[in-house]
Amino acid sequence: MRIFSGIQPTGRKHLGNYIGAIVQYVAGQDRGEAIYCVVDLHATTVAFAPAELRELTYDTAAILLAAGLDPTRCLLFRQSDVPEHSELAWLLTSVTAYGDLQRMTQFKEKSAKQRELVTAGLFLYPVLMAADVLAYQADEVPVGDDQRQHLELMRDIAIRFNSRFGEQFVVPDARIPEVGARIMDLQDPTSKMSSTAASEEGVIYVLDATAQIERKFKRAVTDSGEGVYRAPDKPGITNLIDILAAVRAASPVEIEREFSGAGYGQFKGAVASAVIDYLAPVKQRYAELRGDQAALEAVLSEGAARARAIAGPTLAKVRDAMGVGAPR
Ligand code: AMP
Ligand code: TRP
Repeated sequence: MRIFSGIQPTGRKHLGNYIGAIVQYVAGQDRGEAIYCVVDLHATTVAFAPAELRELTYDTAAILLAAGLDPTRCLLFRQSDVPEHSELAWLLTSVTAYGDLQRMTQFKEKSAKQRELVTAGLFLYPVLMAADVLAYQADEVPVGDDQRQHLELMRDIAIRFNSRFGEQFVVPDARIPEVGARIMDLQDPTSKMSSTAASEEGVIYVLDATAQIERKFKRAVTDSGEGVYRAPDKPGITNLIDILAAVRAASPVEIEREFSGAGYGQFKGAVASAVIDYLAPVKQRYAELRGDQAALEAVLSEGAARARAIAGPTLAKVRDAMGVGAPR
């Protein structure tokens, strides 16, 4: 079984990314052949600073390694080092419906936020994402809930390509965690936690200092009334229960049982200290790994060479099936 996922080198990684996606990447190393990619080309679809992009790519790679990705048990690389991704993206545009891209929620949300330029790249983002996965014939794609629609489109693209040009691609399945697929903002528990939130108070970054994490949980918006249980009219407490369940690898029901008599203050304190303990070793490993940029570069470039050995043959086959380029 082959697993593939990508993560953007934009901003700092937060608890939503960590619980929704990164934990699944680490587990994937024991479940199959795991391939992970820092998608720097996707980061060029919104405003970005060229001088920062490389640094952010190393930051993101270091977070992944600190979380437990092991380059001897998985493949980790930078998207732009494998030109097969962008070539395949173009080839896939021939079977992608314009109307489907227009319907993408992420495109609508991100394009509304752009101040200067809504790029064609932002529109084509899901096609590049499809290319990332399909180039490796991956079976499974671990992602958070916000990528569900992109995964559905990816499957449609693969199916349409296969019926038009013959069976070329594995049609991949999304793997979305049961708990923690949508971690919410601590200040506004009806919006997902995101590094583009208006305020940072509701966002726990993986690299936040202990005191910051403590403060953010203490100030987390809870709901009126009392009782630590999940309910649609208790989005704040529900989110905190999910966070604690995820970091303890417990079920939300177990958390509800344990805190059935607790007040909100006590419960928030328990979530804060569990998250602090959970992230402490990651932060420490991050500092060590990030200090050695040459070693990070070596991991990424070796990963890219191994990735090309897989994606290259897929591209040769696809070019042939489409009749583009010189015959093989
Ligand atoms: P990105 O940083 O946008 O590349 O996202 C990396 C991964 O984190 C993707 O699989 C997302 O689905 C996941 N993710 C992002 N935000 C959240 C969130 N608030 N809760 C759970 N997963 C998330
Ligand atoms: N779009 C994904 C996100 O925002 C990142 C991504 C790019 C991705 N390519 C991918 C995820 C391929 C899974 C598979 O999180």
